[in-house]
Amino acid sequence: MHCFLGAAGFAGKAAYDAGWPETFAPAKIDGAMNIEPGSALNFSYPTEEDTAILVRGTDGTYAAFGQKCTHLSCPVYYSQANDRLECPCHNGGFSSKTGEVLYGPPPRPSIRLSLRQGTAKFLQ
Ligand code: FES
Repeated sequence: MHCFLGAAGFAGKAAYDAGWPETFAPAKIDGAMNIEPGSALNFSYPTEEDTAILVRGTDGTYAAFGQKCTHLSCPVYYSQANDRLECPCHNGGFSSKTGEVLYGPPPRPSIRLSLRQGTAKFLQ
């Protein structure tokens, strides 16, 4: 089973706000299907310099986001205890399902990446 990152899946507006082009080639996330519910995996996308985070929530669903906090670009991490993305720099929090800001100073949601499995999209 493979898990791909699809270019079309960037949340359009957020991608523009971040100054990224609209589309990137899909890329395989190695090891994606092996992570347990309530855990996360870091990978690079869309370039080797861009870190991203694949989250498998405690309910088993997957979502992926750019790892840079939309406040001042610190890397966010997945908190299993809270099942959300947290930024330690200024106490920002994001939904690990949608990327929406839950609290703190981040002005915009996290950039969400789309995931698909083979030809079937399982997350948008
Ligand atoms: S950089 Fe993330 S809350 Fe400030």
